[in-house]
Amino acid sequence: MNFWEKIKNPILILAPMDGVTDTVFRQIVTFVGKPDVFFTEFVAVDALFSEGKEKALQVLKFTEKERPVVAQIWGTDPEKFYRTAKLIEKLGFDGIDINMGCPDKSAVKKGACSALIGNPKLALEIIEATIKGAKGLPVSVKTRIGFRKIVTEDWMETLLQTQIVALTVHLRTASEMSKPPAHWEEMAKIVKLRNKINPKILIIGNGDIKSAEEAEKKCKKYGIEGVMIGRGILENVYLFNENVNPESITPQDKIKLLIKHLELFNDTYQGDKPFEMMKKFVKCYVNNFKGAVGVRERLMKTKSLNELIDVSKKLPVVESHHE
Ligand SMILES: Cc1cc2nc3c(=O)[nH]c(=O)nc-3n(C[C@H](O)[C@H](O)[C@H](O)COP(=O)(O)O)c2cc1C
Repeated sequence: MNFWEKIKNPILILAPMDGVTDTVFRQIVTFVGKPDVFFTEFVAVDALFSEGKEKALQVLKFTEKERPVVAQIWGTDPEKFYRTAKLIEKLGFDGIDINMGCPDKSAVKKGACSALIGNPKLALEIIEATIKGAKGLPVSVKTRIGFRKIVTEDWMETLLQTQIVALTVHLRTASEMSKPPAHWEEMAKIVKLRNKINPKILIIGNGDIKSAEEAEKKCKKYGIEGVMIGRGILENVYLFNENVNPESITPQDKIKLLIKHLELFNDTYQGDKPFEMMKKFVKCYVNNFKGAVGVRERLMKTKSLNELIDVSKKLPVVESHHE
């Protein structure tokens, strides 16, 4: 039995976000409120077999605490998907996800990610090659409802005829990026098709969900098995912990979590990853309290990870609280 078959519905998943959901952030999220499944940031199958291999392998770091954890991959060459799937299986991941939704120009130009919506033949070859290399590890796909225009039925019909175990649909076209509201109404069509073509495939909805409660409502409303949440976690890191009321989290708690995150980042990469990526988390932790703007400005001026940690530890808001 693969892990997807063991999880109870509704399945709540932290969405893969490049530059955000690395092993460090996933460990922090595990600490404050764990989702049912984690995905890695996407990794290029090309990169895993090139000189830049080390960086790609860094993205595939994970700890036991994060299980079940799915490695997400992208590219165009079925042979490389086959080899990558073998590698991911060897690394001990719980599943493999193929990215067929990213709208980034550089990926689309190569014919990868969301461009595969317009190339069903290659998309099917990639799925087949990945399943072959995965040696029984469950393979899933994350996609959108179209490239320029909405083609939900045609595209889902293609994907639902494969042996994938789960299908995550971000309910926007690639051209829409993340701007207009997600077209949740399209979900009814997807579920109807799934029930007809391949009832075993789990359907995961994605787009604009900000709380576990909202996710559960969507699952009930559309008869889907799960929901994936991305940007919502940056507004509330405790989002997957239904026992925590975000209003009850003190500035103290937030700063402490920031420090924990910074120290874990330091221990994990030991200078091998630019510390600037940590600055986007400053906004995520230092918000919604009196004086947050000033604190943020102070932290954003720091020039190194050590300085950022140091200044965070000396913040008056931290020092004023004694346990
Ligand atoms: C900073 C950022 C990075 C992202 N990187 C990835 C990625 O690596 N792979 C992927 O499938 N989607 C990626 N996405 C898309 C998200 O997984 C998700 O589909 C999208 O944000 C919509 O969900 P949301 O409204 O809950 O944020 C990224 C989104 C953001 C904001």
